Amino acid sequence: RAVHVIGAPMDYGADRRGVDMGTSAIRYAGLADELTDAGVEVLDQGDLPMPRAEERDPDANQPVDGNAKFLREVEDVTTRVASSVAATLETGAFPLVLGGDHSIAIGSMGGSSRDADLGVVWFDAHADLNTPATSPSGNVHGMPLAATLGHGMFDGLEWAHAPRVREESIAYVGLRSIDERERELVRESEMTAFTMSDIDERGITAVVEDALDAATAGTDGVHVSLDLDWLDPRTAPGVGTPVRGGVTYREAHSALETVYERDQDKGILRSMDVVEVNPILDEQNETAELAAELAASVFGKRIL
Ligand code: ARG
Ligand code: MN
Ligand code: MN
Ligand code: MN
Repeated sequence: RAVHVIGAPMDYGADRRGVDMGTSAIRYAGLADELTDAGVEVLDQGDLPMPRAEERDPDANQPVDGNAKFLREVEDVTTRVASSVAATLETGAFPLVLGGDHSIAIGSMGGSSRDADLGVVWFDAHADLNTPATSPSGNVHGMPLAATLGHGMFDGLEWAHAPRVREESIAYVGLRSIDERERELVRESEMTAFTMSDIDERGITAVVEDALDAATAGTDGVHVSLDLDWLDPRTAPGVGTPVRGGVTYREAHSALETVYERDQDKGILRSMDVVEVNPILDEQNETAELAAELAASVFGKRIL
């Protein structure tokens, strides 16, 4: 299997806090070696060019209803991410998108769903289902699933790559920080949502199996979106929006190994992104190392 690494060093969606260095940190942590050890052929396409945030006004393109910083820049970058992902899939290779903040998932899911019905497994502390009208922060990294589903102002938006995923094909794993309106939306929706409590009660493997069932039912393949703040901040300190009570090191590996097993059986994997690594907050670069290891787990790296 060939994996193409696509770097999207963007932090417009997280309000300029350092996750733009995530792509570099993950490479420095040995991503290519980890993937090679897992037995895949790696081609690193490098980083997509990114306009400097300092040259831009975050509020230059505010929506009429609500708050969404750097909206034009996010549109621009995610459009290019979508093109790269779609082009990679056309060559038969697997696109692995490195962030950058989680808004890049608008692009990766857009590109991955261009010629397929896509299922999504969202490993994250957060629901990322805000719209500019409901967002408490105005940060677009809290909005990618709303953009992909076409909620609020994202409905009818002329972005080339959204919306393309059906509600019932989305499964959350590990939720623990949800805004009021997001909670209502998740409850009312047909999305599958597993919180940290579900993991406590049932164990990580059973939960991930169920999430995969939901994301594969009636779809052509699955996009795995891994936000490093899914893990407990003691294990993954270098993230922009840490939340206590996340999954452990072992649970994280076990989860992604479960994804690999399913892919071995059924060939379900289509694309993946690894996001929200912020090396500024992590002197030892542990979070990026973890990101590289977890990506390798998805491609079959094992202890024995
Ligand atoms: N829900 C909060 C917001 O909308 C936090 C979102 C954090 N998202 C993330 N991808 N880290 O601002
Ligand atoms: Mn489609
Ligand atoms: Mn998150
Ligand atoms: Mn997220």
